Amino acid sequence: MDETPRFASLAAAALAVLTAADPAEKVRLTRAAVQVWAMGTLSVGSVSSIPDRPARPDQPTLVSPSAMPHRRLTRGVRGRVTLLHALAHIELNAVDLAWDIVARFAPQFPPAFAADWLTVAADEAEHFALLAARLADLGAAYGDLPAHDGLWQSAQETAGDALARLAVIPMVHEARGLDVTPMMIEKLRAVEDETSAQVLERIYRDEIGHVALGNRWFLWLAAARGLDDPRRAWQTLIRQHFRGALKPPFNDEARATAGFPGDWYAPLALSGDALAHVP
Ligand SMILES: [Fe+2]
Ligand SMILES: [Fe+2]
Repeated sequence: MDETPRFASLAAAALAVLTAADPAEKVRLTRAAVQVWAMGTLSVGSVSSIPDRPARPDQPTLVSPSAMPHRRLTRGVRGRVTLLHALAHIELNAVDLAWDIVARFAPQFPPAFAADWLTVAADEAEHFALLAARLADLGAAYGDLPAHDGLWQSAQETAGDALARLAVIPMVHEARGLDVTPMMIEKLRAVEDETSAQVLERIYRDEIGHVALGNRWFLWLAAARGLDDPRRAWQTLIRQHFRGALKPPFNDEARATAGFPGDWYAPLALSGDALAHVP
C-alpha cells in the first residue's frame, strides 16, 4: 500500500505527481522522489507529453479571485482557517509548479537545474503538509473553502518559454510571498496563534531560497541566450506575461537576500507601463 514507487526518471516522477489528484498522494510521491534521487541512480529524463493542468481533487471549487472570501484575522478560528486554507492552496499549486518546471524545462538546462527544482518541490510538499495539519488542528481541511486559479493561469501563460516561466513564477509570485508573509506572521502572533506563525516562518525562510533559485537560473538562461541586459529582458517578459502591476511595498531586504535587486522590480511597481496591464 505504502511502498516506495519506482520512477523511470525524475521527469517520470514529475508526471506521476502532476497526474495524481489527491494532495496527500502528491506529497507522498514527492517525498519518494527525493529519496530515490538521493540514491543517485535516477536520470533527469524527459516525458513526451505534459498535462496542461495538473490533476486536482474535486474540492476546493475554483472561483475567480474577486469571489474569494476575505482573509481578515480575528481571534476566532474562522479567519485563521480562511488564511491557512488560501495558503495551503498556494502551496499545493507550488508543488505542481515545481514539478511542471522539471518536466517541461529541465531538458534545456544542466542537470543541476532539475536537482534544484526537486528541492523546491520537496519544500512545497512540506509546506502543504504543515498547513494541512494545521487546518486539521483547527477542525478544518483543505477543500472546505473555495480557492482561486491565478497561479495556474500564470503557469499556462508561460508554458511555452522557460525564461518567461522563471520571470513570472519565482520572481513575481514567490517574491510577492516574501512581501506579504511577515505581516501575516505578525497578525497570527497578534491573535496568539504561535503554531501557525511558526509554520509561516519556516515557509518564509524556504521561499527566500526559491526566489534565489529563480533568479539564478533566470540569469543563467539569459546568458545562455546571449541577452546582454537581463534586467531589461525580465521587465519585458513581465509586461508580456503578467497581468497587473507589481504591488508595493516590497520586502527589499528579503528580495536582496535572494539576489533580486530593487532596480529590476521597482520600475514596474504601479508605473504607467505596469498599470497598462491592469484590467
Ligand atoms: Fe512554499
Ligand atoms: Fe516556493
